[in-house]
Amino acid sequence: MGALRGVVALDGPSGTGKTTVARTLADRLSAGYLDTGAMYRVVTLAVLRAGVDPAAADAVAEVAARISYEIGTDPSAPRMLLDGEEVSALIRGPEITHAVSPVSAVPKVREFLVAEQRRIIEGVLGTVGGVVVEGRDIGTVVTPDAPLKVFLTASAEIRAARRSAQDSAAGRQSTVDDARASVDRRDKLDSSRIASPLRAAEDAVEVDTSELSIDQVIVALSELACRRGLLD
Ligand code: DC
Repeated sequence: MGALRGVVALDGPSGTGKTTVARTLADRLSAGYLDTGAMYRVVTLAVLRAGVDPAAADAVAEVAARISYEIGTDPSAPRMLLDGEEVSALIRGPEITHAVSPVSAVPKVREFLVAEQRRIIEGVLGTVGGVVVEGRDIGTVVTPDAPLKVFLTASAEIRAARRSAQDSAAGRQSTVDDARASVDRRDKLDSSRIASPLRAAEDAVEVDTSELSIDQVIVALSELACRRGLLD
């Protein structure tokens, strides 16, 4: 399979398999990978460490503007550093997952991170040539000109089951009911916020992953990329 040229924008709610799909696709297409959710998460960690209330928009925006972080774009080992400390696992914990929605709803935080994301994407395009970017507003806001936009969906039951399995694999206690409550809460907050709510771009291809394996999704997306002439 050829190498990806340009941007694949991959959006959708949590539990749709987005992260696994984005990383695997980037790996198979010799492309870079950008996890924008990790950027909202690292800001959230900095907010909590600073003792700032995630609901205090101005204080949260100040923390975001001062943050010293580093994000990797290699799909086989994506890493995140905060003040030089490796925090990739820490930012997936329940405390961060709970506080990330209010932080990501702050318009100044979004403005700052979207500018950062565009800068990182340009850098990867200039070196590797192709990048798979996952998030909630990639096709609508971050790269509205992306030549391929995909919006992943899955039923709420399936998404909760996947989230719970992921939590267990990472050694975190979670029942499917806990995961369902957490997924529902975050969906509601992410979809109803004023600034860049979660929604599919008009020209995005919607893929329902409920009944598909990761491999089937990868094959479908690789074919789409090929048909659009994005593979070398
Ligand atoms: O994909 P994730 O679960 O790691 O994302 C964490 C949170 O960040 C999610 O609740 C919504 C927010 N987010 C966002 O608002 N915009 C993005 N592009 C990516 C994530």
